[in-house]
Amino acid sequence: TIAFLNGDYLPLAEARISPMDRGFLFGDGIYEVIPTLQGKPIGFNAHMARMRQGLEMLEISSPFPADYWRAVVNSLLTKNNELLQSESVGIYIQISRGADATRSHAYPDDLTPTLFAFAFATPPPPVPDASKVKGLHVALGEDKRWQRCNIKSTSLLGNVMHFEQGKREGKQEIILFNRHKEISEASSSNVFIVSNGVIKTPPLDHQILPGITRKLVIECLVKEGILVEETVLPLAELLAAEEVWLTSSSKEIAPVIEIEGKPVGNGKVGKIWQQAIEAFNQHKFN
Ligand code: PDD
Repeated sequence: TIAFLNGDYLPLAEARISPMDRGFLFGDGIYEVIPTLQGKPIGFNAHMARMRQGLEMLEISSPFPADYWRAVVNSLLTKNNELLQSESVGIYIQISRGADATRSHAYPDDLTPTLFAFAFATPPPPVPDASKVKGLHVALGEDKRWQRCNIKSTSLLGNVMHFEQGKREGKQEIILFNRHKEISEASSSNVFIVSNGVIKTPPLDHQILPGITRKLVIECLVKEGILVEETVLPLAELLAAEEVWLTSSSKEIAPVIEIEGKPVGNGKVGKIWQQAIEAFNQHKFN
């Protein structure tokens, strides 16, 4: 694998970052995962906009425009063309505040951010057929993460611990709810439900990551004349929903068929999911 580090391309196994990097010491950085299919990125501009906002929130100044990163994405795909045989490739980009010999909590003035990116094969997108696609089995848990989940921070300890909690229950993801028993998101994806025929997803706030797939799904459905309500989702409404879906760059739209041992709806992948994945496939490269 050829990776990108601070402007250079080199074998991933030879890439070296200082142990004093604040990304390593503090998780002081942000990241993106950009999905590509047959060499074409999905939602590239939206990923760049979120990355820029993350850098602004962390006050990390990195002068490279979206075009620079587009060239990095294209170079990683070309230099790792054996990966393209798997057709779906994720591009991971991370920007940390940089190496700081003093390990001071304060933001040092004059650090050079560390830029890192690599390409990796991802599972193929879901088969757009409700009778063939495999539904997910998920756990439920109280969201124990911090109050700035809108930042796509590399500090993922809360997410990792929640994911492991679900895995130990034999589940593929875990849906999280806050102390008011309202759904936030899952440990590495956003949540949608179909409730009395209406598609709903929690509103954007500090409790969730503004997922790019979430945004694209809403936009694709609107183009098809189907509205999505961005509204608070009580846990009870999730458990009574006809359909539940998880969205992320690696999953696209994944139907959930079981939550904590209880079937979602009739326990089969639903009709609205079928409409949603068709709308998504129709518009995802636009
Ligand atoms: N996870 N919520 C959380 C907590 C996430 O980590 C992710 C993405 C999402 C979905 O965001 P998007 O649609 O932009 O991928 C929601 C990525 C893929 C990861 O950490 O690997």
